[in-house]
Amino acid sequence: MMKASELIQLASRAREKAYADYSGYKVGAALLAKNGKVYLGCNVENAVYPAGTCAERTAIFSAVADGVREFSKIAIVGGSGDRLAGYAYPCGICRQVMREFCDDSFEIILYDGQKQLKKTLAELLPCSFSKEDLKY
Ligand code: THU
Repeated sequence: MMKASELIQLASRAREKAYADYSGYKVGAALLAKNGKVYLGCNVENAVYPAGTCAERTAIFSAVADGVREFSKIAIVGGSGDRLAGYAYPCGICRQVMREFCDDSFEIILYDGQKQLKKTLAELLPCSFSKEDLKY
């Protein structure tokens, strides 16, 4: 089983690829699939601001495009310029995208450059709406 610290290291490497020319806030994510594969993501911004996307979604969509849809954890690091600054909590849209493919126990690992913080998806997105709600 991959250690949290290894996943954080991969997320930090992915963060170096961030294209964040507008906000200057660079994010990296490393997503561990249940089959053991790791998918990396970074934020990719755009001159038309809403067209940009987050690191977490880049990683999740990359996995789905590779035919993989079951995940156990994700490490996320973020900060302006070269340094990490606080915990980079996933935005609301990314939490909802996680909900599509992950169960309540999906682990979200945050790292501020010194300390790790682990949260479950249930903690970050309580009382969520999901595909189960569309079944009637
Ligand atoms: N960002 C992420 O990549 N992940 C998050 O969960 C929060 C925000 C990115 C989007 C944008 O490129 C920059 O950080 C500032 O919002």
